[in-house]
Amino acid sequence: MKDLTDKPTAGLHGELTVPGDKSISHRGIMFGAISHGRTTLHHFLTAEDCLSTLHAFQEMGVSIRRDGETVEIDGVGLNGLHEPTKPLDMGNSGTTTRLIMGLLAGQRFETTLFGDDSLSQRPMRRVSDPLALMGANICVTEGHLPARIHGQKLHGIEYQLKVASAQVKSAMILAAIQAEGPSILVEKQPTRNHTERMLNAFGASIETLDDNVTIKVAPQPELTGIDLTIPSDMSSAAFFLVAATLVPHSRITLKNVGMNETRTGLLSILKRMGGKVTATNERDDGEPTADLTVMSADLKPIEIGAEEIPAVIDELPLVALLAAKANGVSRITGAGELRVKETDRISAVVHEFSKLGIAIRELPDGFVIDGSKPWHVETTKLSSHGDHRIGMTLAVASLLVDEPLRLADPDAVNISYPTFFEDLRSVSSVKNYS
Ligand code: S3P
Repeated sequence: MKDLTDKPTAGLHGELTVPGDKSISHRGIMFGAISHGRTTLHHFLTAEDCLSTLHAFQEMGVSIRRDGETVEIDGVGLNGLHEPTKPLDMGNSGTTTRLIMGLLAGQRFETTLFGDDSLSQRPMRRVSDPLALMGANICVTEGHLPARIHGQKLHGIEYQLKVASAQVKSAMILAAIQAEGPSILVEKQPTRNHTERMLNAFGASIETLDDNVTIKVAPQPELTGIDLTIPSDMSSAAFFLVAATLVPHSRITLKNVGMNETRTGLLSILKRMGGKVTATNERDDGEPTADLTVMSADLKPIEIGAEEIPAVIDELPLVALLAAKANGVSRITGAGELRVKETDRISAVVHEFSKLGIAIRELPDGFVIDGSKPWHVETTKLSSHGDHRIGMTLAVASLLVDEPLRLADPDAVNISYPTFFEDLRSVSSVKNYS
């Protein structure tokens, strides 16, 4: 149990550089490993999820050295991975699992993947089924981990993706670069495009057409290592964007945040709700970045539908928190994917927010929240449900109530943001934050 803080009386203030982007850190390790030559990653996210990826590639014979947030990878090329001597531990990481499935589907060896209890309940057929259409042989256990991958020769494919998921798309791209013949993948909706952008930086030929959903992948590229500075993670900056918006008298600047257009849904939502965020120092070194300054604001309610969800998928618990302080009724729909994240995030948010007396109603694919109703804390013991983003969202919620709150399973934050509580303390004027 961790004690969370009370309302900071003088607002949240200061400047923060949040850790490196999780999606980009995973991919940096993977693409560096299958390239030729040295890849150096700066501002790598040293959180449990990305370390699962790093260790998996070490198990496959890749030399990877880490010194703090700097990682050096001596790439072995697309055909240079070794059969691991034991099953690969995916920990809690869906991104590691699904992308590795696509990559190892086309290798010449067999691998078993397993994960923790939460990961072992997440759906894997969404990856193994479409990969099978390319010739892959992956046996999942009733649709879940553990999975056994029997590497095969793959062939190119024309395929319409059934879920809006960057993990599924990326798995198929990693299979497609090893296949015989080109592939065309068509997404349901545009999802984060780090795989396409980054693989092209490593030398691949992946073209996204003007419709933003059709992706042409050329097979057998010659990949070469790169030097990459990883932007700060928008999904981690999000906790401070929301905290400073909701806590009166706040002003925080977040440095060098990744502004990839497939990830900035929260900024558009904040703007529509009346939030005050300004971007300065905008740059583009492969991935766009900016410094974001956020100030407290009074919020209007919002309607969010399926078309907006992929660009804000990981920030939706925070959007629910914004809605819980807006002056009216908000509806978030089309977000059924939240039910298959690290936990069922619709049910977890409704359960925990109800403890704070927030007027929230569960929908099959989202929430209805009446922010005009005052909160009444009914239970001071909250739980992360073992989910990093739920735990951090509740820590932000605790800044908005008078009662001292406690959080069960706070270590879940180590999955994506090990220094979260220290960073929150550093911008909070409450002295006894623990
Ligand atoms: C990710 C894709 C998203 C996101 C996850 C990271 C990625 O998952 O929620 O945190 O790095 O590709 P889905 O592909 O399941 O939507």
